[in-house]
Amino acid sequence: MSDPVRIGLLGRGTVGGAFAGLLAERAGAFEAATGRRPEVAGTLTRSEGDFSDILERSEVVVELIGGTDPARTYVLDALRAGRPVVTANKQLLAQHGEELFGVAREAGVQLRFEAAVAGVIPIVRTIQESFGVTEIDKVFGIVNGTTNFILSEMAAGGAAYGEVLARAQELGYAEADPTDDVNGADAAAKMAILARLAFHTPVTLDQVAFEGIEAIQPDDLAYAKELDLSLKLLGVAERRDGGVSVRVFPCFLYGGHPLAPVGGPFNAVMVEAPAITEVTMSGPGAGGVETASAVLGDLVSIVAGEAPVSDASERLPIVTDVSSSFYLHLEVADEPGVLARIAQVLGENDVSVKSVVQRGTGGDARLVMVVHECLESRFVAAVERIGRSPDLRSAPRYIRVIEEEFV
Ligand SMILES: NC(=O)c1ccc[n+]([C@@H]2O[C@H](COP(=O)([O-])OP(=O)(O)OC[C@H]3O[C@@H](n4cnc5c(N)ncnc54)[C@H](OP(=O)(O)O)[C@@H]3O)[C@@H](O)[C@H]2O)c1
Repeated sequence: MSDPVRIGLLGRGTVGGAFAGLLAERAGAFEAATGRRPEVAGTLTRSEGDFSDILERSEVVVELIGGTDPARTYVLDALRAGRPVVTANKQLLAQHGEELFGVAREAGVQLRFEAAVAGVIPIVRTIQESFGVTEIDKVFGIVNGTTNFILSEMAAGGAAYGEVLARAQELGYAEADPTDDVNGADAAAKMAILARLAFHTPVTLDQVAFEGIEAIQPDDLAYAKELDLSLKLLGVAERRDGGVSVRVFPCFLYGGHPLAPVGGPFNAVMVEAPAITEVTMSGPGAGGVETASAVLGDLVSIVAGEAPVSDASERLPIVTDVSSSFYLHLEVADEPGVLARIAQVLGENDVSVKSVVQRGTGGDARLVMVVHECLESRFVAAVERIGRSPDLRSAPRYIRVIEEEFV
């Protein structure tokens, strides 16, 4: 049996704690993907553990302390000692990326950082691996969930900035000190990292021009709504005039833009290149377990030494009778009591109606309804019964409906 993978865990706060839990929960899947069992060799917090001792006992280091000091020293020491490092630390990379990547290159070890940008969205991996030799023109998007939540709430309810910020803090979407989120600095650090990856050129935080959302007024958002515009804090990194421009600024988008419907604390990133046209990815931009999941993915890549081979070691049953919501179209006789009789058949099969409209009269009478999510077998049984009814002038038609709203 192979030796376990000994992991040095630096930091056990929101992300570090979630990472330790996820690692234990997914240990079997980790072993299936890498051939080795994971084991936490030591944990460092402010009150626990000794860094040198943990480094000595680890073969890979996961840095989840945050900030630049002492995280920078620990990461540099680990890399120099030949330990690959996974980090979620955007400030560290945006400010000291060149130094850290240089040391990693010299030491011949990996430094992976998927969780540092846009939470769970695998944008780092996509740019580095899938588009590794694609000439990217532009990377842009919503990379700060706090501000996106605030702008979405202001647009929805007409509330003022300060009021919504307080609600974001209550819900845990904004830190006690939200300065770096709302003034654009957090997004700027992420865009510096993305720009470096996309354009293969050093970009540091001080080279990113950023504006925040503090001055946005509720009536800006009210007018925008009438015009089908939505306001987002965008990070944009693009090739311009033979160089690279990296900025963060509030911006209106038309309703049809792929980023327009991205609301709440979600992030979304778009990549544009002649060879790929455009790709958009969205998902939760933060959160302990979401960020920990991105950290775990990096760790698996390091230990597997290559892209993990697809694993099918589980034996799960195949489920065919799933729940769905449905649109149902019925051409009916224009007589009293038809709707009640149809509703009764649906009800007897545990199918409940969400909305119904009656259209036409006489030979053109129709009932169009959407039913709530129900087991497909129950719905089909109800429709078969309805189809045999003398109330129907033609066979019923139905189409599945995804009720879920993605944002
Ligand atoms: N939270 C998120 O949703 C999120 C999302 C994306 C990325 N990130 C990044 O993930 C990293 C960790 O964030 P977090 O939210 O988990 O932070 P956190 O909850 O504040 O946890 C930080 C951990 O690091 C330890 N620590 C702090 N300073 C230390 C020092 N000088 N020496 C040793 N240990 C020290 C703390 O120790 P104690 O336990 O003793 O206090 C704590 O365990 C940051 O780089 C952050 O930017 C976080």
